[in-house]
Amino acid sequence: MGFRPLPSLLLLTFLTLQCFQLLPLVAEASTKLYIVYMGERKHEDPNHVTASHHDLLTSILGSKENALSSIVYSYRHGFSGFAAMLTESQAELLADSPEVISVKPSRTYELHTTRSWDFLGLDYMHPTELLKKSNFGDGVIIGMVDTGIWPESKSFNDDGYGPIPSRWKGICQVGEAFDANNCSRKIIGARYYTAGISDRNLKLDFLSPRDANGHGTFTASTAAGSIVENVSFHGLGAGVARGGAPRARLAIYKAVWGTGRGLGAGNSATVLKAIDDAIHDGVDILSLSLTVDDDSFGSLHAVAKGITVVYSAGNLGPMPQTLSNTAPWVITVAASTIDRSFPTVVTLGNQYQSFVGQSIFYNSTKDPRRNFKPLVYGDSCTEISLNGTNIAGTVVLCVAALVSPTSLFSTALSNVLKAGGEGLIFAQYTTNLLVMTEACESIPCVLVDFDTANQIFNYIDSERDPMVSVELTRNVIGKEVLSPKVAAFSSRGPAILFAGLLKPDIAAPGVNILAATRNSYNFGSGTSAACPHVSGVAALLKSLHPEWSHAAIKSALVTTASITNGYGMPIQAEGLPRKIADPFDYGGGHIDPNKAADPGLIYDINPKDYYKFFNCTLAPFEICGSEIEPLYYLNLPSIAIPNLKDTVAIWRNVTNVGKADAIYEAVLQPPPGVHMIVEPSTLEFNAKNKMRTFKVIFKSIHKVQGDYMFGSVTWWDGFHSVRIPIAIRVLIEDFYADTA
Ligand SMILES: *[C@@H]1O[C@H](CO)[C@@H](O)[C@H](O)[C@H]1NC(C)=O
Ligand SMILES: *[C@@H]1O[C@H](CO)[C@@H](O)[C@H](O)[C@H]1NC(C)=O
Ligand SMILES: *[C@@H]1O[C@H](CO)[C@@H](O)[C@H](O)[C@H]1NC(C)=O
Ligand SMILES: *[C@@H]1O[C@H](CO)[C@@H](O)[C@H](O)[C@H]1NC(C)=O
Ligand SMILES: *[C@@H]1O[C@H](CO)[C@@H](O)[C@H](O)[C@H]1NC(C)=O
Ligand SMILES: *[C@@H]1O[C@H](CO)[C@@H](O)[C@H](O)[C@H]1NC(C)=O
Repeated sequence: MGFRPLPSLLLLTFLTLQCFQLLPLVAEASTKLYIVYMGERKHEDPNHVTASHHDLLTSILGSKENALSSIVYSYRHGFSGFAAMLTESQAELLADSPEVISVKPSRTYELHTTRSWDFLGLDYMHPTELLKKSNFGDGVIIGMVDTGIWPESKSFNDDGYGPIPSRWKGICQVGEAFDANNCSRKIIGARYYTAGISDRNLKLDFLSPRDANGHGTFTASTAAGSIVENVSFHGLGAGVARGGAPRARLAIYKAVWGTGRGLGAGNSATVLKAIDDAIHDGVDILSLSLTVDDDSFGSLHAVAKGITVVYSAGNLGPMPQTLSNTAPWVITVAASTIDRSFPTVVTLGNQYQSFVGQSIFYNSTKDPRRNFKPLVYGDSCTEISLNGTNIAGTVVLCVAALVSPTSLFSTALSNVLKAGGEGLIFAQYTTNLLVMTEACESIPCVLVDFDTANQIFNYIDSERDPMVSVELTRNVIGKEVLSPKVAAFSSRGPAILFAGLLKPDIAAPGVNILAATRNSYNFGSGTSAACPHVSGVAALLKSLHPEWSHAAIKSALVTTASITNGYGMPIQAEGLPRKIADPFDYGGGHIDPNKAADPGLIYDINPKDYYKFFNCTLAPFEICGSEIEPLYYLNLPSIAIPNLKDTVAIWRNVTNVGKADAIYEAVLQPPPGVHMIVEPSTLEFNAKNKMRTFKVIFKSIHKVQGDYMFGSVTWWDGFHSVRIPIAIRVLIEDFYADTA
């Protein structure tokens, strides 16, 4: 039995597992929940809109009674449409009606957000200009579409808050264990949506906005939690808990149900209804840490109404092409690590040789440094590999498959516990799975890399009675922790549904974040945690610059994002292998809130321009004809060309939001293999000319079936650096599958 870091068969299991989690679960019944989309609403009065839905459905189902019992939700604020229980042939009939743009089954998703969430470094003890000038986000309303809220958490204390903004039109929907006084000046509204959710999931949860799962409380406290002193997880991560915009107000839309750590069930019908209501209620920001890939029109109408929509990118990294929530008009957020680590010292029984792993090990009744235990090698710690080894009372060294440490960790832990093991040293490739060690609770679980594991294995192999002790975890923060890095689990581009679009947009902290769950605080990791960081910062920006459009806020975030860490070295992306991050890992880079407050120039977009592209993605639209414009003509703060054959010219408009008189010079970093010219290369702004147009010409140098290459265009005025990322693939053939 030797040291084997490479059991290769697990690759398949891993891929199957991930695909399974993505598959929509469709109810097997003669009628199904469908979403009928009818575009912009054509009548001012929402009741009239609903009446027209009833009429349309009556014409298909024969009677008004049938229509009323079939319809589940009427979408009537942000856009027109409805969700209804229909047979396939009824759905087809509806799709043929001239008023109807599309009819699609509502899709149910098992959310996968076990590695969750939150927290960003705007120091409230020494508030920066952004925090001060935005008054900590006061007055801004953040809508959270999630698993609800735990109103008793200290993070939602409303002490010292002024009255609820008068423009607020939402409600406090009461229900199980949630009454009207559970809303406050902090939680200014709450609603819940149950259509299409299984009885099983509803029974596991509170039939109200109250959050049984924990995910919604975590994300809400991350985006806008009030300041709570002296918070920690058993002494680890101790400090002040707060949201990015600690004074922003929260509006809660519970559209995802069920308990279980990081697991929930939601569907497109509930999420769309939440978005429609949020548009009506008057939220400024919508924060969605969930995957609903066919939301595109809900978020589009929200953006068109001036709402900033922020989505998590998904947790299916580090494989490419795994992004969710990639519509051009939303902000898609990747997850990164922060400058905190949890070193845990492992000492061997020989000459007191020590190694440092990572763990969240906080519970030891004896002095751990004197607490040596027998150490055994358990290989992959599957039932088969442990069969025949007595591990009772020992610490076991387990070695993960290269590809799937996540699933093997749970198996190894349960097998070790079942067989009476008292500790687990888990060898994995270099990626951050720290949150999983919380599940160990009473026994130490230490994560080490293969290099360290090999040295521990050599010791076991050479000793008659190998012994080991594990110290309690320490808490290290600051510059000695190399950060940020893009998290291994963070989903990667390119985006599949929208070619010609560079996604994700930005990275934000999402690893080992401490935030509220019920009445306490827990660590969580995932893009679910990264998303509300951006929502919180967007709230600060909105408060500071109320006149900015959603596109302006997104542009400010993307063009000021950082591509280097605190030491000026390029940000890395964890994965297989760890590498220097590129725009498919982090978009424009890592979020830099204070710079985003003063971006110099912005790439603005009139929401009408989105429709031009969007209308053509929904059949059947005569206006689109055969000439669908590539998305790279949209005035986005990024450029992606998936098929550069010879020459492509692209225009961009930039608007000066800094001092009126300014001169910017172009600084180019062409993607390898591509000639790039910017015309003009100097942009002059003054009180009269606030907007300038420039042209970028890309010309391929080689005739080759290429891979994506990355570059950038930066406008520089001696102070502001306004950088947009570029991704270009040179091609000879169209429709070229990148599988080589
Ligand atoms: C796109 O469709 C909407 C209806 O949803 C319509 O109001 C708009 O005019 C269309 N825009 C374009 C550019 O075709
Ligand atoms: C919320 O309402 C419940 C009753 O439904 C009450 O017991 C609880 O104290 C309330 N919490 C807050 C924060 O007001
Ligand atoms: C923080 O909490 C710990 C125990 O939870 C307590 O011992 C300590 O005094 C508290 N510190 C402050 C400043 O409240
Ligand atoms: C463990 O090994 C024994 C003897 O080789 C075998 O009979 C048994 O089935 C094995 N158990 C498992 C779970 O593999
Ligand atoms: C520590 O572990 C022991 C044994 O499992 C348990 O009884 C105790 O409650 C734990 N203490 C804490 C603070 O979790
Ligand atoms: C730039 O602005 C002009 C004038 O408003 C407009 O016609 C053009 O479509 C814009 N270009 C882009 C790429 O948005």
